[in-house]
Amino acid sequence: MENLYDKRKVYDRSELLESEVRDNPIEQFRDWFLDAEENPNVREANAMALSTVETDGCPRTRMVLLKAYSWEGFIFYTNYESRKGRAIEEVPLVCLHFFWPTLERQIIIKAKVEKLPANLSDGYFHARPKGSQLGAVVSPQSSEIPKRQFLENRLQELEKEYENREVPRPENWGGYLARPYEIEFWQGRPNRLHDRLIYVLDEQLEWKLSRLAP
Ligand SMILES: Cc1cc2nc3c(=O)[nH]c(=O)nc-3n(C[C@H](O)[C@H](O)[C@H](O)COP(=O)(O)O)c2cc1C
Repeated sequence: MENLYDKRKVYDRSELLESEVRDNPIEQFRDWFLDAEENPNVREANAMALSTVETDGCPRTRMVLLKAYSWEGFIFYTNYESRKGRAIEEVPLVCLHFFWPTLERQIIIKAKVEKLPANLSDGYFHARPKGSQLGAVVSPQSSEIPKRQFLENRLQELEKEYENREVPRPENWGGYLARPYEIEFWQGRPNRLHDRLIYVLDEQLEWKLSRLAP
């Protein structure tokens, strides 16, 4: 057996105290997200793991990019017919997860998810570089394809077809808004006595803060 027993890190960079956090978890998210973005050792601060629930009851996780956030929630873009899109169709609940090792911080967000209005997806689609737009048209995301050449050929065809034309957003590509109902902030601390503060939305739609044991 290859054991990794000796691989352990001391977490001692910071702390997370009730007296210092925001009343609203989106504001708290913003503070931490800006810290991550400003830190040169964090490469893609907006990369997050997205877990969906599949029909066999098992969660499935993959990375996506957070593209916007607001009081309403967190926005990411993908193919609606992808494996994650189909899972969301069945169970419109997701878990988003950020881990910024340099900051010794993780954030876990549980959310209800819905498609963005088409005009918002259009806006972002057309703001992307043309190559990314064509990539979205070319790729039947999560479907089996015969070989890589299939994608390259389709891309070449479409590059010609849309040489002087705007690429229309495919109907199966767009954004999702994940509306959070639970957000946990985790700050690593010495001796594994980490700080965990969790905000839960109550029936009056107010955020309640509590501390969890590490
Ligand atoms: C850092 C990173 C960012 C990614 N961002 C996205 C994204 O924003 N949207 C997306 O559809 N896939 C993104 N991907 C690819 C997904 O992880 C995944 O392979 C793809 O969406 C298909 O997932 P599915 O078959 O589970 O639906 C990203 C991958 C990585 C590693």
